[in-house]
Amino acid sequence: MILADNLVKIYKTKDIEVLALQGLDLTVSRGEVMAIIGNSGSGKSTFLNMVGGLDRPSAGKLFVDGKNLFTMMDKDLVNYKRSTVGFVWQNNARNLLPYLTALENVMTPMYFTSESKRKQRALELLDMVGLSHRKHNKLTQLSGGEQQRVAIAIALANNPKLLLADEPTGSVDRRTANYILDVFRNLNKEMNLTIVIVTHDTTLSKMVHRVVAIKDGRTSSERIIKEKYAIDLDNTEINWGEEVKEDTHEEYSVIDRVGRLQIPRELLDTLNLEHNKVKVEAEDDKIIITKP
Ligand SMILES: Nc1ncnc2c1ncn2[C@@H]1O[C@H](COP(=O)(O)OP(=O)(O)O)[C@@H](O)[C@H]1O
Ligand SMILES: [Mg+2]
Repeated sequence: MILADNLVKIYKTKDIEVLALQGLDLTVSRGEVMAIIGNSGSGKSTFLNMVGGLDRPSAGKLFVDGKNLFTMMDKDLVNYKRSTVGFVWQNNARNLLPYLTALENVMTPMYFTSESKRKQRALELLDMVGLSHRKHNKLTQLSGGEQQRVAIAIALANNPKLLLADEPTGSVDRRTANYILDVFRNLNKEMNLTIVIVTHDTTLSKMVHRVVAIKDGRTSSERIIKEKYAIDLDNTEINWGEEVKEDTHEEYSVIDRVGRLQIPRELLDTLNLEHNKVKVEAEDDKIIITKP
């Protein structure tokens, strides 16, 4: 669904340049639900914005659903944004109109169909996010979590193949966050929707198969769910009341195409290096890094 290869994004303002993505490599399969984590400023939102067609990459390759986002013409990009991707942000105000009802809000971005079709689809979507009973309430009468679910319904209005969520549970309580994740999981199961979630939420990141960590605009590591736990996650209804288990995922460092690797700071610190050179040697099936 997504193929990013050596992706670079430079923001140019009057007198400075910010290197937001510095050669990011990342692939996301069709039908996958995955999370992206990383410190503030590491390039997570920049990456989502590129994938969502909200901004253009500066260099590298970016394909989404087989389409080349690097060379796409502006008019095709408009179409792409409408039909291929849906977006959910932490801040609902960006998506929603406070003086309209939940139903009217969901109907608003549906462009081409008749009034009755739009209404029918909007009702379906509100049902999918568990908000049928609030359809005639104005946005201002809904809680933060309910508003967020309206935003999810809107993101799905035009039947996207890919849902991009930038900290979707960042400003809601635990119970609402769990509900939102359940909505995502159901959408994935029922519609094979591919979902990419940028998150700080450690509970949420334990509930997906793969978590990619971005550091300084590059992919630094990936956590892959352990097989045993993956089966639990897929086959049973999650009991959210239960304590989340500790060692659900295995962590891997990512080596890029030219052989670069980010060594976790904690490991590097144990070497107590005086300068920037190390010995790298092969031994049996290992590569060993030692202080000279
Ligand atoms: N429109 C912009 N203009 C200039 N710099 C930007 C812009 N958007 C993001 N940046 C910079 O790019 C870097 C990555 O930002 P961002 O992708 O928002 O990080 P994250 O979402 O991981 O917190 C940061 O240094 C940020 O200040
Ligand atoms: Mg961000």
